[in-house]
Amino acid sequence: MNVSFYGHVRQYENIKSEIDANMHEVLMSGSYVMGPMLKRFETELAAYHGTKHAIGVGNGTDAIWLVLMALGIGPGDEVITHPNTFFATAEAIWIAGATAVFVDCCPKTKCICPDKIEAAITPKTKAIVPVHLYGQCADMVAIKKIADKHGLKLIEDNAQAIGASGSGFKIGQLSDAATTSFIIQKNLGTFGDSGGIVTNNPEIDAKVRKLRNHGSNQRNVHSYGFNSRLDDLHAGILSAKLKHIDAWNDNRRKWAARYSAGLKDCKTFDLPVELPGYRHVYHLYVIETKKPEWRDQLVDFLVKNGVDAKTHYSIAIHQQPGYPWGKSARSVGPLTNAEANAACCVSLPMFPELRQDEVDHVIAKVKEWDAMFAAQAPAGKGPAQRESACTCCK
Ligand SMILES: Cc1ncc(COP(=O)(O)O)c(C=O)c1O
Repeated sequence: MNVSFYGHVRQYENIKSEIDANMHEVLMSGSYVMGPMLKRFETELAAYHGTKHAIGVGNGTDAIWLVLMALGIGPGDEVITHPNTFFATAEAIWIAGATAVFVDCCPKTKCICPDKIEAAITPKTKAIVPVHLYGQCADMVAIKKIADKHGLKLIEDNAQAIGASGSGFKIGQLSDAATTSFIIQKNLGTFGDSGGIVTNNPEIDAKVRKLRNHGSNQRNVHSYGFNSRLDDLHAGILSAKLKHIDAWNDNRRKWAARYSAGLKDCKTFDLPVELPGYRHVYHLYVIETKKPEWRDQLVDFLVKNGVDAKTHYSIAIHQQPGYPWGKSARSVGPLTNAEANAACCVSLPMFPELRQDEVDHVIAKVKEWDAMFAAQAPAGKGPAQRESACTCCK
């Protein structure tokens, strides 16, 4: 049996009539850019998040730097984030002209560790960008306290966690803005590129709307701006899919629970940690090998046995070639947890349309590999999930 990592075509087949209807509506409208379908999707996206505004943009990277620019953050400023995320989080910070400052993540959540943030704050610090990595929220309550204490802006990189929530908080409610990516592989993804921003701040909304459209909100009148629009065909696809996102996330959670139950007695890796009261939406289901050299061995074994396993992200940003790219980035304190996460991460197939026999095949193959190495496994947690007493891991 072959189990693929993504299920894009299955998803399309399941809701083909709804997607096709929206695409037909757009094609027949004669309005393809900044048209009525974009407006409809933006209204639906804001309602979904319970925010006052939602803005469609070209992709999830643009979404971050457009918000930074709207907040007046740029050259000479510093923005704190963590390095075990997709490269774009940091890339967006230096596209805005600011410096990305990396602090370590928590060993359990893999999100930014609130306890590490204050040591990185300088007079140049203007914002914090927590990433809701793999589909689980960062500890926004603790992070917001720090942001408020130091007068910093807060931008959630929510590319991986649409539909997730924390214990007592919703994404987009404790920050200045939350950004997302709608690239196909995300929990809510279109057949191509696009991104979005949700915010309760009317100034961010107005500024981003102008910036994304050549600095214009009135025909023939322009100020500083760019072209980063979400076109109506993609908005139509996303509008059709948004109606299913909660059910799809429920499915992801069901498959994650089945993986965790099936693999709980394995000795060679640690399972993902779901914080109590949080709704993790498992954009990725990531196990962490107890020895770094096992990461690629496990992936190779699975791929050879028909299971399309991958790594996210096997090189942390501060370990990429050329770091720190002039003054684009710097780090504060050891980044031990982020490095261990990169060294040990293995992502198992995860998409809502997986079938039970496929999930069980993945479990069987992972257990087969575990049985070969279990005798060599160190006792206790591996390096990526070592015990920690940080605020959100307690
Ligand atoms: C955490 C994170 N931030 C930002 C992005 C950038 O989004 P995009 O590829 O749509 O520019 C992605 C995904 O691609 C991501 O996973």
